[in-house]
Amino acid sequence: MADINKIVANFCTEGTATSISPCGNGLVNHTFVVNAKKDGKVTRYLLQAINKNVFPNGPELVENIYKITTFLKNKTDDPRAVITLIPTKDGKYYHIDGEGVCWRMSDFLDDVVCLERFEHLEEFEQCAFGFGNFQRQLSDFPVDTLFETIENFHNTPLRFETFLKAVKDDVLGRAADVRNEIDFFISEKAFYPVLFDANKAGKLPIRVTHNDTKTNNVMLDAKTKKAVRVIDLDTVMPGFSVNDFGDAIRFGANTAAEDERDLSKVSLDLKLFEVYTKGFLKGCAGGLTVDEIMLLPEGAKMMTIECGMRFLTDYLQGDVYFKTTYPGHNLDRTRTQIELVRDMNRKWPVMKDIVKKYI
Ligand SMILES: Nc1ncnc2c1ncn2[C@@H]1O[C@H](COP(=O)(O)OP(=O)(O)O)[C@@H](O)[C@H]1O
Ligand SMILES: [Mg+2]
Repeated sequence: MADINKIVANFCTEGTATSISPCGNGLVNHTFVVNAKKDGKVTRYLLQAINKNVFPNGPELVENIYKITTFLKNKTDDPRAVITLIPTKDGKYYHIDGEGVCWRMSDFLDDVVCLERFEHLEEFEQCAFGFGNFQRQLSDFPVDTLFETIENFHNTPLRFETFLKAVKDDVLGRAADVRNEIDFFISEKAFYPVLFDANKAGKLPIRVTHNDTKTNNVMLDAKTKKAVRVIDLDTVMPGFSVNDFGDAIRFGANTAAEDERDLSKVSLDLKLFEVYTKGFLKGCAGGLTVDEIMLLPEGAKMMTIECGMRFLTDYLQGDVYFKTTYPGHNLDRTRTQIELVRDMNRKWPVMKDIVKKYI
């Protein structure tokens, strides 16, 4: 790892760094807290090394974040509500170190929490509100000015093609033992283009999407537990709002963990689905069209089935993409996602009724 003191020296901090320590438990980037001191006053900053393997183009990613945060700052007077990027001494918002790693710095927020798992329904609702509000505030952002930081990220039909190729190549000879799982994804083939078709039919606009809508990417005020700001803007890209909603449901409204082996524990919690719908749409505050709202269940199913398909693709390819901690980890994850989709199929009319209630 590069000399972090030297990295910090490139940024326009208030004073000089007195301590640097690792922060948070994000899985993708390396994150540090930097304390800088000037005339006895300490200011804290957040320093992050962007993971090159996930995001090949750091400067484009930072440019997206710069555009988004500059735009958001015009929509609020609260400095806590939006990330503030700290410039470098040569007037950029990133620094590339000797190993080609891209670094960026932002303000550090105190008295907030980022929840890995929520304990109370209100916290889940606040996370939903945060992402809905983010959607609303960016509804008039010129979306075509954003870079696609990961190409075809939620192109499910293309993900299906990749999956079929992995089945055909079967490099490790694993396909024969997972025929039921493979057949499940093939049986759902007609579903994969529905969001793109809705877009072509003028029912689903391209919007600014966050693409990592886990609860730990909304900062809640430590005392009031109200949403303060949305963080982790690395995957902000053009996309469908229903996918942001959907990924949060996939992850947060499942009654079991993503890698639970006892599939009888896996189901869609309709109470959580409703709470999230309520919070998200309150945050959107009329910013989504009626057609779009009615497609929220499709977003939930699409994100779940796409994710399951990606886990199985990775299993067939030898577990090269997702971090695994035991052999068959990706297969267990595949099975929970399939079970969750099956449960969504069973609860489909109820899911539709719930979103209709909040139009
Ligand atoms: N501005 C900030 N102030 C305080 N802590 C932060 C800030 N931004 C991020 N963090 C902490 O760092 C963690 C990882 O940051 P995040 O941007 O979400 O990176 P990752 O992509 O690795 O998840 C967060 O979960 C949070 O605990
Ligand atoms: Mg994060």
